Formats: sequence, structure tokens, C-alpha cells
Amino acid sequence: MGRGSGFGKVILFGEHFVVHGVPGIVSAIDSTVDAEVKKTGKGIIVRDERKGARGYTEKKRVQQKESIERMLRTMGIDLEEAVLDIWLGGNLPGFSGIGASAASSVAIARAIAEELEMDLSDEKINEVAYEAEKAYAGTPSGIDNTAATYGGLIWFERNLSGGPNTIKKLSMREPVEIVMGNTGIVADTKEMVAGVAARKKRDPRKYDPLFKQAEDLAFSARRALEDFDLGKVGGLMNENHRLLQDIEVSCEELDYLVDLAQEQGAFGAKLTGGGGGGCMVALTPGKELQEAVAAAMEKEGFKVLRTKIGVQKYKG
Ligand code: MEV
Repeated sequence: MGRGSGFGKVILFGEHFVVHGVPGIVSAIDSTVDAEVKKTGKGIIVRDERKGARGYTEKKRVQQKESIERMLRTMGIDLEEAVLDIWLGGNLPGFSGIGASAASSVAIARAIAEELEMDLSDEKINEVAYEAEKAYAGTPSGIDNTAATYGGLIWFERNLSGGPNTIKKLSMREPVEIVMGNTGIVADTKEMVAGVAARKKRDPRKYDPLFKQAEDLAFSARRALEDFDLGKVGGLMNENHRLLQDIEVSCEELDYLVDLAQEQGAFGAKLTGGGGGGCMVALTPGKELQEAVAAAMEKEGFKVLRTKIGVQKYKG
């Protein structure tokens, strides 16, 4: 049997903008999707037993099938001949916005490679997962699969000319608590990404300055994270959320959770990932603040993930 894992992630700065070449900052979180693959049965069977994933799994089933086919093709495996029983589990909940699709692609690619005795480097696994991500995100930047493959805290810049992306390891003095609040809405990343691209094309007078602001913000955020100036990081997260509202990827439930987190004393909060539902992230240094913010969301009936940024070591 082949086994593999991929990290979940939280985009701290720059989702959507990153698709168009603006730098983004992503942190892996200490939850993973795990996969086991056996050469048995008939055709390709997927048993998705991820926690809290029922609605998520159902909505993503068609994209998941396409993503596995893309993955196999990139690995040079004949789709007609493939006989693979794929099991998915792990402690990363199946929420939208926490990198569940990229983490599962990395986990599956690693498990298939082990089962079929293919010696694949992390770079190749990342490439395979990027191809798989196209099924979920249409024109992905590559930020999610990079975090899922390597872990750590990463500065990511997509190379729009097709050359290698810029991937730099960032360091924080110590890990910091965050809360990820789930709206419960399973969003379609592909639609959200396509929507931004269409609006950007239609209205450059509005969108170009917003993209410039997102770029400046990423550079300030990088400095603030490396200086461990958490007050500044939080303020920049709030600003980033406003930019995401301006490009129309937030929604009522995300704004509600962001406001709630800020009222409870979070240093900053923003939607994270594709938006349109899915998750938001609140910066809540210390167990006490994390608990206060998480409990306030749970009281309102939302599911949350209490986790940390800057925990996983970068393995690139
Ligand atoms: C999704 O987690 C992040 C997006 O920026 C898409 C991408 O970068 O591939 C919305």
C-alpha cells in the first residue's frame, strides 16, 4: 500500500490577486489530508472519509474525478489501465478555503507514487498537484499546491510567462494562534477565479489600482511577519479583507464572521482562499484570545478550526 499526505493551508495575504502575478503569503497549518492507495479492484475507486466533508465531497465530486484524471496523465499513467483504490482521510476538515483540494491532490500523488514505486521528487509532486488543481480552480496560481507540498510559511509569486514561480521560505519568531471560521457554504473556486478575471478585464480603471494596493500590502505584510509585529500584521489583514470586498469575492456570511472576530479582539481578520463562502481567518495570538473568538463563532452556529501559523517547517 502507498501512503501520502498534504498540508492544509491558510492564505494570509493576496488570494485572487496572486492568480494575476501579485505576490501572496501562505502558511501551512498543522492539519493534513492523508491518502492510502492500493492497486486493487476495478478502475479508480475513491473512498473519501474526510471529517466534516459530506457536503464538500458531494459538491466537489465531479471536480475531484477530473483532478485525479489530470494527475494520472501528468504522472504518465494510462487512465484505461489504472486500477487504484484511493482512500482519503486525515485531520484537515473538508471546508472550502483551507486548501483541502490541493492537500488531497498532494496526498494522492504521493500515495500513488509510493504504490507504483515511482520515485518522484517534491518538485514533481508539486507539478502533478498543480495540474490537478486546474480541475478545482480553472487557472490556479499554484500557491495552494505549493503550500500543500512543502509546508512552512511561503512567499509566492506566479510567473505569468510560464517560467518557474518564485517560492521563498519566510520565517516567524514563533507560531501564532489563528481561528478559521467556516461559513458552511461550499464555494466554487473556479467560478470565483473566473469572475475576478472577467471583472478585472471589464473595468481596469477600478481594478488596476486595487491590484497595485494588494501588491504594496504583500510587501508590508512580509516585513511585519518577519519583524513579528502582530499588530501590524492584523491591521494589514483587515485592509486585505477590504480589497477582497472591493473585488467582490466576499459575501455576507464572511463579512459577518470577520466583524465578529474583530469585535472579540482579533488582531485582524479576512476571508481566506477563494471566497464566496468557505472560510475566513482571524489572527488571535495566545490561547485565551483564540478561544474567545472561536467560542463566539461556535455560539452563532459556525464550525471553526483552532490552529496556528508558522508551525510547519518548510521542506523545500
Ligand atoms: C484559492 O485558495 C486561492 C485563489 O487565489 C486561487 C489560486 O491562487 O489558485 C483564489
